[in-house]
Amino acid sequence: MSEYFSEASSADVVNARMGAQTDPRLRQIMHALVSHLHAFIKDVEPTTAEWEAAIDFLTKTGQLCSETRQEFILLSDVLGVSMLVDAINHRRPDGATENTVFGPFHVDGAPELAMGANISLDGKGESCLFEGRVLDLDGNPVEGAVVDVWSDNADGFYDVQQPGIQPQWNNRGVFRTGADGRYWFRGVKPVSYPIPDDGPVGQMLERVERHPWRPAHMHFLVHASGFESVTTHTFVEGDPYLESDAVFGVKKSLIAPFERTDGGDTSWRSQFDFILKPM
Ligand code: BEZ
Ligand code: FE
Repeated sequence: MSEYFSEASSADVVNARMGAQTDPRLRQIMHALVSHLHAFIKDVEPTTAEWEAAIDFLTKTGQLCSETRQEFILLSDVLGVSMLVDAINHRRPDGATENTVFGPFHVDGAPELAMGANISLDGKGESCLFEGRVLDLDGNPVEGAVVDVWSDNADGFYDVQQPGIQPQWNNRGVFRTGADGRYWFRGVKPVSYPIPDDGPVGQMLERVERHPWRPAHMHFLVHASGFESVTTHTFVEGDPYLESDAVFGVKKSLIAPFERTDGGDTSWRSQFDFILKPM
């Protein structure tokens, strides 16, 4: 006999409504969701006004989403959930390059460029040579690895945030390693920037006295056949936001050296090897 809803039995009553044919994984997820959500409500005992404010926050978060703005992913990022899901799904052996948050600014189809090309098309910022190798866990070079890179410009914006102001594909490119596994390209030394904070997520950060800044970083997506893809960044050592990244993306192993060059055609040089785990 089914039970009527009560404060004490709330989660059990809701969970008991699921049908017998419900997919087992969906059943597990829904059961946990309802149980944790009801436990949360019992813990904080929101007033009706507070619950309406929560619904309003989620409504505004959804309403701001578009082809070019994903406020729900941003919410997941600032709550540390994106990094947690990533950590659970990409447990790697010691020595393998760690993942970090993908972020909303990757664009598929960036031009494939010759090694050494300059990805900075707006001529702003301090020039930097990025170089290193793609290796397997035994230190052997990985040939044919596709290294997809993107970064903000010297003003702290990605090209897609400033259409008509920045050239398309500014600070983006795709490179393919040869037999030696090496990659190298020119760009600008990345600068720290705030995540988009003009929406509900930004308001929430402000209310809880958190800043929206990310430490300077270059994004890398490295694919190679037979290996797990790596979605990561290299972070600029010494950046003031390394220990308070708004989206919790920093890992010690991803902090890269950025050295001033003597001569050469760039002002800075950053060396970083990517170590891939076999599938
Ligand atoms: C990014 O690094 O591009 C990024 C990551 C998470 C949220 C916003 C931006
Ligand atoms: Fe970024």
